[in-house]
Amino acid sequence: MILRLNHKPVYQDYNSITHEKYRLMNLVKSKQRVADHGEVFTPKWLVEAMLNLVKGETERIDSRFLEPACGSGNFLAPILQRKLAAVDIKFGKSEFEKQHYALLALMCIYGIEILPDNILECREILLGIMAEYLKIEEPDDLYRAAAYILSVNLVHGDALTMQTSENEPIIFPEWGYLGKGKFQRRDFHLNVLTGSSAFSAEDSLFADLGRHDIFIPIRTYPTTTMSELASAALGESSKEDA
Ligand SMILES: C[S@@+](CC[C@H](N)C(=O)[O-])C[C@H]1O[C@@H](n2cnc3c(N)ncnc32)[C@H](O)[C@@H]1O
Repeated sequence: MILRLNHKPVYQDYNSITHEKYRLMNLVKSKQRVADHGEVFTPKWLVEAMLNLVKGETERIDSRFLEPACGSGNFLAPILQRKLAAVDIKFGKSEFEKQHYALLALMCIYGIEILPDNILECREILLGIMAEYLKIEEPDDLYRAAAYILSVNLVHGDALTMQTSENEPIIFPEWGYLGKGKFQRRDFHLNVLTGSSAFSAEDSLFADLGRHDIFIPIRTYPTTTMSELASAALGESSKEDA
């Protein structure tokens, strides 16, 4: 018997959703940077093999990934590609759903990087992948919303001290999609999130506490839309210009 598939996914190969800079990246930028920061990027074949160890999670739109030394995104870029391939299979037929679930995919990707050029490059590469997949450009709300998400999810800072480059505690937003174009956001301190695993250890005094006792957000936002996120991006760029 021959089985025919009605819906053939557009992106059978994750690598077809890509960005020029990511394709051309070298593994070492300079000997000095290797010595100072251990900056040796992971080759693509190894990244793919490692991601395949958690293949199911990488292909889930709302699974969360944090890369604490993300470099230019050698792991985060293919994670986004895999998530977008999942978006395409599930929501490719509806432009509205596709756009919102693509944003959700991006919202679930987090990174920290100590070198300023790397974090900018990482944001640029992930934004390029979003732009290529969604066929969007700079003035579009969707493009600016994605840029805003990257500005808060990819932090220029030190993963060891858990401080930003401005010596503030690192804060990550937890995003969710409520449907009908509405997103929710709560912010958490990174040190609370990482410390929570110690709380839940079996013999810990705090083992009986529920998640809600440990994961206390420092801020809960009203629900928001793609165009409100795009406006937030404008606020960020005027802060940078000041
Ligand atoms: C070995 S490279 C790996 C980069 C990327 N994860 C990859 O696999 O291609 C380590 C990266 O971590 C950054 N880094 C070093 N110390 C760091 C720290 N304390 N916090 C955040 N990033 C750091 C370096 O600048 C460099 O980009």
